[in-house]
Amino acid sequence: MHDFEKSKTSVCPKRSIWPKRSIWIDKNTQTVKVIDQRYLPHKYIIYELKTLKDVINAIKQMVVRGAPLIGVTAAYGVSIILQNTPSGVDETACLLEECELLKNARPTAINLVYAVDRVLEKILVENDLNIRKSVALTEADNLAEEEVENCRKIGEHGVALIKELSDKKNGEQINILTHCNAGWLACVEYGTATAPIYKAHDLGINIHIWVDETRPLNQGARLTAWELGEYGINHTVITDNCGGHLMQHGLVDMVIVGTDRSTYTGDVANKIGTYLKALAAKDNNIPFWVALPSSTFDWDLDSGVDQINIEERNSDEVRFISGELDGSIQKVSIMPATSRAANYAFDVTPARLVSGFITERGICKASEVAIKQLFPEKFVLDR
Ligand code: MRU
Repeated sequence: MHDFEKSKTSVCPKRSIWPKRSIWIDKNTQTVKVIDQRYLPHKYIIYELKTLKDVINAIKQMVVRGAPLIGVTAAYGVSIILQNTPSGVDETACLLEECELLKNARPTAINLVYAVDRVLEKILVENDLNIRKSVALTEADNLAEEEVENCRKIGEHGVALIKELSDKKNGEQINILTHCNAGWLACVEYGTATAPIYKAHDLGINIHIWVDETRPLNQGARLTAWELGEYGINHTVITDNCGGHLMQHGLVDMVIVGTDRSTYTGDVANKIGTYLKALAAKDNNIPFWVALPSSTFDWDLDSGVDQINIEERNSDEVRFISGELDGSIQKVSIMPATSRAANYAFDVTPARLVSGFITERGICKASEVAIKQLFPEKFVLDR
């Protein structure tokens, strides 16, 4: 029998410094700073973004990760490009060339391209470099604030789904499964998938979260578990393959995940393994919700499996695993050095397996018609 009710050792006291942000401007140095997520939960290290190289490295190496945070980091990246514009060059050509490099740092999360293009649109109408610098910084700040507000609203809308299940179960524990980290670390505050979870906890709803470890980089075990623990939310880390078993035994009431890119027809790209959870949820009649801000929709794509570019990362991330031992972070090999390894970072869950989207504007079905009703202005051109 399951004994997760007993395993409450993972619950830490509520953190005293909530809310905290994953990205901010240091008032003393006027530089952009982020938490280096590669070392959590073992080490809390701050990483400073001063050059385009710093920004691209941070995104590629996953110092920062998660679609909304990648977007906000890239928006500040445009402002950093302008801060470092050398004299005597064609400023616009240089800017556009470097923005292209930035947009290619990671391929799957649409927020990256969205954020760079959004800041570019604001600055290209200006000619003066100093004005461009100031406009870029303001727009990056605006995007950060907007993503915070979007996630807050996702929490407000999404908690109704948890409350409904809780009422149906007469206040008994609601078990929610989540995959990867779609928390405040992946965004700026609140998170997407975690926003309704934090809200439910604040309202005193009895919840317990199944946290998929999320191999190969363990964003669930390292980051989601850390976030939930810091907030005092009852949770249990499970292996990535455990969810189907739990669902068959009535131990999952709902699934909530985030996404890196969703088509306007409702297909969802998210961390590798999400698709398998959706299949298992469908087979067991369990609601499978996807929480996302509008910045994560790709308004140009109608088929996720055919059109979304799935990132393939270095196979060393599969070959080795990192963890803490005697106070230091160590990396060990887990397979024969001569075997090949493949590292697909994301997969696509077709709309038919998604119960619906939780967005900043409300909840809708994962279909073109329903998405259009919530975001009509994105469909101004006839498709
Ligand atoms: O490779 P990562 O860690 O950047 O992948 C992140 C995810 O898959 C998240 O679920 C997704 O970005 C949603 S974040 C709110």
